Amino acid sequence: MTFNEAEIIQLPKNFDRRGNLSVIEQNNHIPFKIERTYWIYDVPGGEVRGGHAYRNNQEFIVALSGSFEVLMDDGKSKKLFSLNRSYYGLYVPKGVWRQMQNFSTNSVALVLASTKFDLSDYIYDYKSFKENPQ
Ligand code: TYD
Repeated sequence: MTFNEAEIIQLPKNFDRRGNLSVIEQNNHIPFKIERTYWIYDVPGGEVRGGHAYRNNQEFIVALSGSFEVLMDDGKSKKLFSLNRSYYGLYVPKGVWRQMQNFSTNSVALVLASTKFDLSDYIYDYKSFKENPQ
């Protein structure tokens, strides 16, 4: 499997009448070591999160509960991914503009990140991103 581009990755799932279980191992199911984990929740209807790119950070996004969309843009084309199962995740390479939108009520977005939080890694200006794709 190549991880050069954004893609949906199916995670192991252990279906059980007692309840289901899925798992993520760093450098195995996802192509990076996890330095940070954060989650986005209690998103009011219609709100948009993200809306930026990272110079170096890679991410893996899972809809642990509910559903939402991730709009990705590499500066040339855009692609919309829908996440609505907790055993699928979206790999987001570095240098890609990404926006999270259409959160369902009570949805939870789990984000695994390859770097520690660093504001200088963010690209917030879409115009300069388009002019200088990473
Ligand atoms: P931001 O990355 O801009 O959120 P989103 O991409 O969803 O719009 O982060 C929002 C705020 O949270 C910002 O003030 C920085 C802070 N933050 C941290 O302190 N640590 C983190 O790991 C992240 C992702 C954000």
